[in-house]
Amino acid sequence: MSAATDERADRARRPDPLAAPKGIPEYLPPESAGFTHVRDTLAAAAERAGYGYVELPVFEETALYARGVGESTDVVSKEMYTFADRGERSVTLRPEGTAGVVRSVIEHNVDKQGLPVKLRYAGPFFRYERPQAGRYRQLQQVGVEAIGVDDPALDAEVIAVADEGFQRLGLSGYRLEITSLGDDECRPAYRALLQEYLAGLDLDEPTRERARINPLRVLDDKRPAVRAAMENAPLLVDHLSSASAEHHARVLEYLDDLGVAYTPNPRMVRGLDYYTKTTFEFVHDGLGSQSGIGGGGRYDGLMETLGGPSLSGVGFGIGVDRTLMACGVEGVRPWSEARVEVFGVPLGDEAKRRLVSVAAGLRSRGVRVDLSYGGRGLKGAMKSADRSGARFALVLGDRDIEAGTVGLKDLVSGEQTPVALDTCVDEVLAALDRVG
Ligand code: HAM
Repeated sequence: MSAATDERADRARRPDPLAAPKGIPEYLPPESAGFTHVRDTLAAAAERAGYGYVELPVFEETALYARGVGESTDVVSKEMYTFADRGERSVTLRPEGTAGVVRSVIEHNVDKQGLPVKLRYAGPFFRYERPQAGRYRQLQQVGVEAIGVDDPALDAEVIAVADEGFQRLGLSGYRLEITSLGDDECRPAYRALLQEYLAGLDLDEPTRERARINPLRVLDDKRPAVRAAMENAPLLVDHLSSASAEHHARVLEYLDDLGVAYTPNPRMVRGLDYYTKTTFEFVHDGLGSQSGIGGGGRYDGLMETLGGPSLSGVGFGIGVDRTLMACGVEGVRPWSEARVEVFGVPLGDEAKRRLVSVAAGLRSRGVRVDLSYGGRGLKGAMKSADRSGARFALVLGDRDIEAGTVGLKDLVSGEQTPVALDTCVDEVLAALDRVG
């Protein structure tokens, strides 16, 4: 390394308290309007299907993820933010939501209050990944989990809820890939079969090692040589137990009934170890290599693995950051970046006193209002009004007060009309109604 690269690397490592940690997207106005709209639209689809909201810890005991997500996964072995707290407990910033939800359901005996337990969540998750467009160290998900009923109709519901969220946003350039990862009955035999197939291949040592830990991972190796070698590999969907095959067929039937299109992907491999039976991913082709906008599936053994009753589960996690990017790629923007609808422009102290009250009156009627503070002149205040995204400005000077009026300015047409100061709240409401 040259001295210059040395110095650059050094600088990159030096802490800079004025820079956000690497790989963390921040959402500021006006763009944050898109972020909250995407998150809330996805969550609303879950709410409409009866998923109650849970707010869970952002960090948990490290053992929860080691046991729940699986020690052989990249998420657990390489990507966790794990540290000892001041009481010397090993804790980890949550890399995903399912393990925490299941832990909470067990801890609070939620399953005793009727099944299935249907929960939704939204918030940040943390994975120490190599940052790039669409791959972050703090990522945002909206997720659902339906616990305690092993019914293919529930798998289909979970998938349909995710699909409905994407549809409501106006997205169309994505597809649902689906497969079955079988159950305890068929998986061990299939694993042995695949391992036997892999043993006959000329694989490099790192790939052999991967195969030893989890042979299924080799199925989605992207390298052309490995892909070619895996062409005739046995696939789990062809070796499902009759119960798993039946379950899978029913899920697909329900999806057909619901009009949710899907593409079978028998080589799908998920980054988390708990999946059984139904497993799916929503893939958006406009996003390059980070194309997974959401994923999930069934995890029938997880509850027991974590020390709870033997109950099944199914759920999804949708990446809010990537879904927002997908909206950008498709040019859909079903939200407004306007902070407010109305902006008050007071010219003088008395005008400010009046407009502060008018703003409060409008807000109490549900209108979003801001005003110019700090005694700014007309030009500066109008600039703020424009920046706020407001449709109307209320311009008030001493002469207007004397005349008992206020100027209602349409910031799109530029037209300004005087309206009575006393009744201006109703006038503004009517004007907002007129422009829709
Ligand atoms: P996951 O596939 O690991 O599943 O993550 C779900 C979604 O989160 C991904 O499809 C992707 O959109 C987003 N995502 C994951 N990692 C990143 C990242 N580094 N940067 C940006 N976005 C990311 C789970 O987490 C499971 N808990 C889902 C689930 C719920 N399965 C059953 N229930």
